[in-house]
Amino acid sequence: MSQLFRRKSVADCEKDIAERGGLKRHLTKWHLTALGVGATIGAGIFATTGTAIVGDAARPGAGPAIVLSFLLTAVACGFAALCYAEFAAMVPISGSAYTYAYASLGELVAWIIGWDLVIEYAVGNIGVAIGWSGYFRELVSHFGIDIPAWLATDPRTAHAAVAAVAAGATDAASTYFASAVSTAPHLFGFPIIANLPAFLSVAVITVVLVIGIKESANTNNAMVLLKIGIILFFIAVGAFLIRPANWTNPALGGFAPNGFAGISAGAAIIFFSYIGFDAVSTASEEAKNPGKDMPFGIIASLVICTVLYIALSLVMTGIAPWNTLGTPEPMITALAHANGPPALINASRFIVALGAVIAMGSVLLVFQLGQPRIFFSMARDGLLPPVMAKVHPKYKTPYVGTILTGLFVATFAAFANIAEVVDLTNIGTLFAFVLVSLGVILLRRHEPDRHRPFRVPGVPYTPIISILACLYLMFQLPAVTWKRFGLWLLAGLVIYFFYGKKHSRLRGRAENK
Ligand code: ALA
Repeated sequence: MSQLFRRKSVADCEKDIAERGGLKRHLTKWHLTALGVGATIGAGIFATTGTAIVGDAARPGAGPAIVLSFLLTAVACGFAALCYAEFAAMVPISGSAYTYAYASLGELVAWIIGWDLVIEYAVGNIGVAIGWSGYFRELVSHFGIDIPAWLATDPRTAHAAVAAVAAGATDAASTYFASAVSTAPHLFGFPIIANLPAFLSVAVITVVLVIGIKESANTNNAMVLLKIGIILFFIAVGAFLIRPANWTNPALGGFAPNGFAGISAGAAIIFFSYIGFDAVSTASEEAKNPGKDMPFGIIASLVICTVLYIALSLVMTGIAPWNTLGTPEPMITALAHANGPPALINASRFIVALGAVIAMGSVLLVFQLGQPRIFFSMARDGLLPPVMAKVHPKYKTPYVGTILTGLFVATFAAFANIAEVVDLTNIGTLFAFVLVSLGVILLRRHEPDRHRPFRVPGVPYTPIISILACLYLMFQLPAVTWKRFGLWLLAGLVIYFFYGKKHSRLRGRAENK
């Protein structure tokens, strides 16, 4: 029992670093901010906003009040960001929430978080790959290439579209996705419907990561400028196309057609678009001055993304009636419905699609890179088999973890439904935020004298608010998401008790003392 709650003290973490030689500390506070923005702006804003605005079978949409959803989630994330900042400044070691939990809440919770981070990174990337595919389809259509629907979506979306068309829907997205069912070829009597671009995007990135890329801070900075540029471009063009009546149209229920229920449900969906600022903490071992710069990077990236999201969502719901935006590419759909010169609209659609494909590609890369490194930390601690920490003899990359992650993400990206994947990612990440916030309170008790370069103000109240806010968002997610999450955690516990508990290095250390 004592092992379950045995903590890996911060001193032990530091000893580990000394043993294996730490990473080079070369990142400034702006590099860290760019890292956060780079990991954050992706499928959330480009793809999932549509569902949050319109809603789906399980929940009401926010309508134009989506802008309040973005604010609400930003506030919740802000409290969690402060907690991450305290840890990242104090424990400047790679591994993020997993490492923090090991230091504050003990081995079992650390394992649970590490297992849970698979949901944030790998399952999250399934969603990003599907979002990427939608904009890719738009992009190639400008070159006269039409991808057949049966190769560009998942079976569930296709059948939902068939039902929508049967119920009278005539919009372009519904008719296109419904055509997947009628045009799909059959193998052994089964229709083949799979999202091929989503699969291939992950496959290509996996190959690149196994061979090893020189991740340079400069390339990331360029990507970030491009992401911000594409959003500013959309805002600038959109500003001329706004018809304020779209925000308040009484025929569509006004500004907040489903009241606070719609705003809250929307907030829980677009939480996905904020995930990533916490990934700054994975770079703390490479920060020049982690004590000051980690809190800056985490909080600045959150603020920058919040401002961009709020402006973008205002423009999106201003240029088209909100009830038309429920597609996987809402920015393209908004432009398609806008009242403006066709040449301008067409050029803007192309530019936005190109920007979105590159922007989401970089999120895919960051998380596909991060997941094997979390596995690596866990394998090094003995909680996962050593093969996960195996480094390729020639390329020097953790290739086994990289390939397994690639296979998992690519396969699910081909067949999964984006809304379901996003819900699961959100519940898992919110849960990690809850545990990190709790960790701040507990570590203040366990190690009160440890030097904390950044202290969350108002402990325990601030972390408690963070916990309550995250729980609130979790409760906005559908029951089926809770069930899936519960099963995932259960599987994790089984693995821990049959493997990790026996092989833990910390247990070995304690026994050798
Ligand atoms: N926040 C990341 C995205 O939206 C996960 O793609």
